[in-house]
Amino acid sequence: MCGIVGYIGKRDALPILINGLKRLEYRGYDSSGVVVLDEKTNVYVKRAVGKVAELEKSINGSDWLRPGLGIAHTRWATHGEPSERNAHPHADTDNNFWVVHNGIIENYKELKDELISEGVDFRSDTDTEVLAHLIAKYYNGQPSSPGRFFDAVKKTLQRVRGTYGIAVVSKFEPDKIIAARNSSPLLIGIGDGEHMVASDASAIIHLTKSVIYLDDHEIAEIRRDGFRIETLDGNSTTRKPSLLEWDAAKIEKLGHDHFMHKEIFEIPEVIENSIRGRLILDEGRAKLGGIEDAKDTLRKIERIIIAGCGTANVAGRVTEYMLEEYAGIPTEVDAASEFRYRKPVFTKNNLLLAISQSGETADTLAAIKEAKEKGISTMGIVNAVGSSIARDTDFGIYNHAGPEISVASTKAFVSQLVVAALFTIFMGRQREMSLTMGKRIGEQLKELPNLVKKVLAQENIIIEIAKKYKDMPAILTLGRKYNAPLATEAAIKFREICYVPAIDLPAGEMKHGTIALIDEKFPSLVIAPQDSVYEKIQSNIEQISARRGPIIAITTEGNEEIKKFAQDVIYIPKTLEMLTPILAVVPIYLLTYHIARLKGHEIDKPRNLAKSVTVE
Ligand code: M6R
Repeated sequence: MCGIVGYIGKRDALPILINGLKRLEYRGYDSSGVVVLDEKTNVYVKRAVGKVAELEKSINGSDWLRPGLGIAHTRWATHGEPSERNAHPHADTDNNFWVVHNGIIENYKELKDELISEGVDFRSDTDTEVLAHLIAKYYNGQPSSPGRFFDAVKKTLQRVRGTYGIAVVSKFEPDKIIAARNSSPLLIGIGDGEHMVASDASAIIHLTKSVIYLDDHEIAEIRRDGFRIETLDGNSTTRKPSLLEWDAAKIEKLGHDHFMHKEIFEIPEVIENSIRGRLILDEGRAKLGGIEDAKDTLRKIERIIIAGCGTANVAGRVTEYMLEEYAGIPTEVDAASEFRYRKPVFTKNNLLLAISQSGETADTLAAIKEAKEKGISTMGIVNAVGSSIARDTDFGIYNHAGPEISVASTKAFVSQLVVAALFTIFMGRQREMSLTMGKRIGEQLKELPNLVKKVLAQENIIIEIAKKYKDMPAILTLGRKYNAPLATEAAIKFREICYVPAIDLPAGEMKHGTIALIDEKFPSLVIAPQDSVYEKIQSNIEQISARRGPIIAITTEGNEEIKKFAQDVIYIPKTLEMLTPILAVVPIYLLTYHIARLKGHEIDKPRNLAKSVTVE
């Protein structure tokens, strides 16, 4: 996720800003940048791709002034690849206003078109740049007054739809930072003769413990010796400072003990980000920027081959069920590592769909290369903007899940499923899916963040279950239809972070051998929502119970019957069958997280594993 830090005060701003950026590195980013200004209207700006150390290197040796005002940013690309020209800060045409921004400006295209029609040239592919040009436009259109810069930013934000945390500085008023927020955190740090602004307290906790958290739709003018806050509609607000009590390490994880835990709790927000601006409910359609230009190619697709690894492969298997049931397109899924070595047979109008969080997984990249070699269209569902897979595929959809730090993939998996559902609507509506069905899936998708929150609220029940099973020698994981792939996802997590051998099966396969393992010491996790195959999986549950195998069941709210057979039950709310994996995976993540935690494992960096597997 992007990070912001700003400073105004008596000290040299630059080292403070660079230090602040380093403290934001844990959030994940692909480029960074900084701007400092002095009172003689000199501006010094640097941007760099890669680590903050690269930015620092580019500064060393330069003839920097030492003013006490500046803003800086770590960027996680959402619009435009990671590059120097897309890194923040962004400026207006005359370099009078400099903006750093976290979040997404949803209506940036229409604002950009408006500015282009007025003669503005854009220098980046970002949504952020529209803010700098609009601020300049509104500043120039106002008479001189003490609040002119503040008002220009306010007017700009009144035009904006979307999410933002921003910090802005101007050559014309080099005695202030203007900061504002909507759904993207921002706080003001209060010092002695100095103030800071940051998206995350870890950037400034070494400078002050006294902070004011901005609320949504608030805008602040921050000076050396004070600040004022207003709402965007002009009411001034006052707030008591809060005291930061956590240490930096805890703040990075926003109070969570591990990134995995933080990322699980980010799932509701991730779902919102993945669907934001992409559903046209009254038309029962999905509007997916990255594939709109490929509409005609996609209309002709007769078969889809999905390639991915690990958890991304599991997402592919759920996508297969969705595409076949709702879009009527024959689909198959390959482990990317197999695809490259077998001899896949392609027929007319095939599409290779690569799914990857990092966009850098070597086997998945090789599958794309192989498909290209055969002249097949390639598409990506990728989280990391500008990554190799995003660049190597012909077109694709970004997840917008934000950076995932924990090696165990959680929120990215959920975003892959959400994007898969959007893609299913897109493909289905080009084919036989009705308006009503498109609408129905869209409406249910919108409900998901609240439903996930209901599942997260059961964490204490899940902790108790984790305590019971933490010493189990092994586990069997079962699911059917949409949740058969989830049995694999659960098994990956049991192996990856709990170091518990786990056998995953589509439940119907159990009777073909594995049932021999069942006894009172061998527990099973059964994913059994009350869907079209519930009766089938219920019979698995009964068979396990008859052999005295302990059962943890995940089922739909209100299913009391299951308690006759399962010792431990976790409930998920009802939703459309194709979306149940999005809810059912949440307790799986919490359960495996808490078992790993009780066992004292290093959860975010499990042994022998790397976040991104860039070798074969
Ligand atoms: O970055 P990718 O999505 O391509 O990564 C694929 C797998 O390496 C990854 O999902 C892995 O299985 C996870 N660590 C599982 O939690």
